[in-house]
Amino acid sequence: MEITKIAIIGAGNMGHQIALCAAMSGFQVKCTDTNPDILAKAIAFADNYLKERVIKGKLSEEAASQALENLAFVPTIEEAVVEADLVIEAIIEKLEVKRKLFANLDKICPAHTILATNSSYIVSSKIADATNRPEKVCNMHFFNPALVMKLVEVVQGLHVSEETVDSVMNAAKKMNKTPVLLHKEIYGFLVNRLLQATRQEALKLLDMGVASFEDIDTAAMNGLGYPMGPFQLLDLTGVDLAYHVGMEKYKESGDPADRPSPTVVEKFTKGEWGKKVGKGFYDYEQ
Ligand code: NAI
Repeated sequence: MEITKIAIIGAGNMGHQIALCAAMSGFQVKCTDTNPDILAKAIAFADNYLKERVIKGKLSEEAASQALENLAFVPTIEEAVVEADLVIEAIIEKLEVKRKLFANLDKICPAHTILATNSSYIVSSKIADATNRPEKVCNMHFFNPALVMKLVEVVQGLHVSEETVDSVMNAAKKMNKTPVLLHKEIYGFLVNRLLQATRQEALKLLDMGVASFEDIDTAAMNGLGYPMGPFQLLDLTGVDLAYHVGMEKYKESGDPADRPSPTVVEKFTKGEWGKKVGKGFYDYEQ
């Protein structure tokens, strides 16, 4: 199936950029969020982003106005999905919330619609059985910032049909992304397994008082050639996300080693969730 119409559910950190990226690649896109403030922010972002690209000479005026024409931010989920070939879910990283959403999507989407989750860690087999179309439910994992990062991880669990995977891989390529296909479901997919190892060690070193977070970032960048340090990346992807991911993993495994680190719990409780709120490990207000 050739995908031409995409719905994005959740216009937060990830959703609004996935939506804009798809609209700039020629898809008809509808994006929704339960929070009207987030939706308004997403609309302003899309406008500004496209204007800036034109000013910088990176995008023609025609391409920018075409992208805006392709993109609608809508207040209800029903409006967003009514004609969608593909839905990409980008809401909070909580299994029960996602299952509820997918059960509803199954009811309100056309029969042919593929339902993909952008979840960082939750494999789609945990969600697919909330629907009556498990063969059309898969992981399509973008990276932050979604307008910039090329990689998309597509995961084919046992329940996912070849047709679904082919359509999603092709849609990712049309979005000018570089998709990789995982033939098995595995916690953390490829990239987050690699990332988690570095992040856990960085947090452990900080909690042990071995070095400041700034120096740990400096070490990762200057000693390992990483483009940004683990704490800068935590601020970018969201301390709240790291907290929820840790709690979900701990709930499942019961292993105290999987609990979010004391520093992550403290930052989460204080509301210092990273760049999106102006303060995380670093201060973004100044
Ligand atoms: P976010 O918290 O920035 O955005 C989530 C948005 O979903 C919020 O604006 C919220 O109002 C909205 N929402 C919640 N329930 C909803 C519903 N039922 N219907 C419509 N909108 C709803 O979260 P973020 O960071 O964008 O993460 C979203 C998903 O993407 C998560 O599953 C996360 O694991 C995944 N992800 C996040 C990355 C990151 O770096 N932040 C990277 C890759 C994947």
